[in-house]
Amino acid sequence: MTVLSKSSAAVVTATLPAVQAHGEAITSRFYQRMFAAHPELLELFNRGNQATGRQQAALAAAVVAYAEHLTGRSTVSWAPILDRIAHKHASLGIAATQYPIVGRHLLAAVGEVLGDAVTPEVAAAWDEVYWLLACELVAREARLYTVAGLPLQADAGWRPWRIVEKIPETADVVSLILAPADGDPAPTFAPGQYVSVAVDLGGGQGRQIRQYSLSGRPGAATWRITVKRLRGGAGAAGGSAGSPVPDGAVSSQLHGRTAVGDVLRLSPAFGEVSSIGELGVPLLLVSAGIGVTPAMAALAQLSTVAPAREVVLVHADRSAAAHPLRHELPELQQRMPNLSVHLWYEDATDGELPDLKATIHSGWIDPARIPFAPDTYAHLCGPVPFMAQVRGELLLRGLPAERIVYEVFGPGMLAG
Ligand SMILES: Cc1cc2nc3c(=O)[nH]c(=O)nc-3n(C[C@H](O)[C@H](O)[C@H](O)COP(=O)(O)OP(=O)(O)OC[C@H]3O[C@@H](n4cnc5c(N)ncnc54)[C@H](O)[C@@H]3O)c2cc1C
Ligand code: HEM
Repeated sequence: MTVLSKSSAAVVTATLPAVQAHGEAITSRFYQRMFAAHPELLELFNRGNQATGRQQAALAAAVVAYAEHLTGRSTVSWAPILDRIAHKHASLGIAATQYPIVGRHLLAAVGEVLGDAVTPEVAAAWDEVYWLLACELVAREARLYTVAGLPLQADAGWRPWRIVEKIPETADVVSLILAPADGDPAPTFAPGQYVSVAVDLGGGQGRQIRQYSLSGRPGAATWRITVKRLRGGAGAAGGSAGSPVPDGAVSSQLHGRTAVGDVLRLSPAFGEVSSIGELGVPLLLVSAGIGVTPAMAALAQLSTVAPAREVVLVHADRSAAAHPLRHELPELQQRMPNLSVHLWYEDATDGELPDLKATIHSGWIDPARIPFAPDTYAHLCGPVPFMAQVRGELLLRGLPAERIVYEVFGPGMLAG
């Protein structure tokens, strides 16, 4: 177990409220400082998350929560949080040599924001917190790289992949079928894992990286990602007539400005959240919108390795027409006799697929009506409020927290 020295523990306990209160100011200042000193890192971090403040919030929350953990003020289990960050870092190819850069600018930002309150003792105590956390992450990341057979250096394992097919799925969703550009077969992956995709935005805007869950069958000769285009404008989430939000940078590029034959750089597959769990128990897959992608990888895998498994698929969407990969369900159901499908469409007027046996509800999902067996393994993926609502109801109905996993398509985790 990681332990903070006694003298630092007292100082961290005394200064935690101030750091907590100014957490996002500190991390905002940290990013400004770090990007000024290392402009090359601007292409590593997600500009959308910077603009909306989500990455600052995620980093501040992680450091503060870890300090609470070290000083015994929290009973939160740290392993899942460290695993999530380490897998995200590994998929971005973060190297141990980059930790001193983050540490230096983070601690300098603490000093700038808190001013005279940061005595040498306070600085030393927070330095210790940072490095205890950094060492835990570096160790986890080293293990992930080693298990994947990758060198311990930045960008480990990234390689060029060619788009071999581009399939429109719905008005806003497209699937890209990708094959290694060197002609090697695609490596396999575990259902629920994702890849980082680097895209050159053109027009002097540089490169950006985003994660996409692998939505095809593990072991296939190609990988598939299924991407929802995020539209901006005044009506989009967070926008207004005075300050419309921009289109999603990478999803727009993948939709509008990539074609079959183009080459993208992809990381190896990482991701700690399994969308199949243990094969011997019933599985509940609950998704909304584009959150269906890890569930589709699970179904593709199970339809070949455990077709008789009892699986309940619950999916919520605006309508059948907006439901990505829906056309694959009838064939999966033919191969999986114990797959039952429950769909919630806000607009259920455009009916069923002829061969699909599904219960179709109209309106917003009612989690109280989700069927599941007592020993079910549940995997959730969708917008955070949707998952919080479903998880809350599953807990209320007696499913233990450790049997419910979830994937957030952005920084952060569900509270509690
Ligand atoms: C593990 C994981 C798996 C994922 N799997 C999938 C998947 O299978 N399919 C999929 O489609 N997505 C998936 N995602 C999400 C994906 O990684 C991207 O976040 C998504 O495609 C949006 O990226 P973007 O570059 O298009 O949008 P960004 O440019 O990152 O913008 C994101 C949002 O922020 C808003 N924004 C950007 N800049 C500003 C600004 N200046 N002011 C206000 N608002 C702003 C945009 O309008 C947009 O709504 C996954 C994410 C994770 C972490
Ligand atoms: C102790 C040190 C660090 C902590 C506590 C930390 C914490 C985090 C957290 C909480 C996230 C969000 C994870 C999620 O998706 O939920 C994250 C993402 C990320 N981290 Fe770190 N990190 C650290 C070090 C580093 C280093 C050294 C680098 C490399 C320079 C780095 C680069 C990134 C990037 C690029 C992302 C994704 C950003 C995004 O999506 O906007 N981190 N980190």
